[in-house]
Amino acid sequence: MTADLWARVDAYIQERLVPEDDALRTALAASAAAGLPEIAVSAAQGKMLNLLVRVTRSKRILEIGTLGAYSTIWLARGLDPGGRLTTLEMDPRHAEVALENLTRAGLRDLVEIRVGKALDSLPVLERERAGPFDLVFIDADKENNPLYIEWAVRLGRPGTLVVVDNVVRKGSVLDSASADAAIIGTRRAYEVAGSHPRLAATVIQTVGTKGHDGFMLAVVTAPAGPS
Ligand code: SAH
Ligand code: DHB
Ligand code: MG
Repeated sequence: MTADLWARVDAYIQERLVPEDDALRTALAASAAAGLPEIAVSAAQGKMLNLLVRVTRSKRILEIGTLGAYSTIWLARGLDPGGRLTTLEMDPRHAEVALENLTRAGLRDLVEIRVGKALDSLPVLERERAGPFDLVFIDADKENNPLYIEWAVRLGRPGTLVVVDNVVRKGSVLDSASADAAIIGTRRAYEVAGSHPRLAATVIQTVGTKGHDGFMLAVVTAPAGPS
């Protein structure tokens, strides 16, 4: 009943504020047809990512967790001319579907997909001096979120916006006794963000087509001066 109401309100929002075009609709359809899990951000959340890119005037975006590139399309469409997005995906099949979806969306030249475990790709990006990234969207395996947040700071600069998806998961984040690696990782992500000398963060809970969840927003602050 409640979840149905959330979904209906999401539909109301989407109809009025978040028109999905062919490229976005096809990205979801092609991902589902290819058997990818249907866990992309909602349309309203995708539009929010797009608006965050625009308000921050981001020119370099890092995404961890591509899936079929639905969120990637929303993010990349917010880039000003000359902007670029790097997205990290472990599953070659997901990356293949993502590339097709990005090509259909006309974004192939703006987006680079790196296939491999994100924790292997991130040090390579650092060695290549691919940063600093203006915005980092973290949406892959939740157990590594504490490390991904550390990497976002490392590859960022003062002012970099870090967005972490799925940090509430129906309130399962409250379960301090959980043996689930995803929940342990999520809880540690709060500890890292809350105690990091170079992060200011909050979490906003959400409801909608994806149920009860939430996203973390964090900004990288200036390095501490000499003491
Ligand atoms: N951001 C996407 C959803 C991503 S789902 C969207 O909203 O449209 C999470 C993705 O992260 C999956 O495709 C999964 O294969 C990938 N993933 C999981 N563990 C990973 C890892 N260690 N490194 C890189 N990608 C990973
Ligand atoms: C699920 C949703 C997500 O947004 C995600 O990144 C991973 C999993 C889920 O609903 O299971
Ligand atoms: Mg997610």
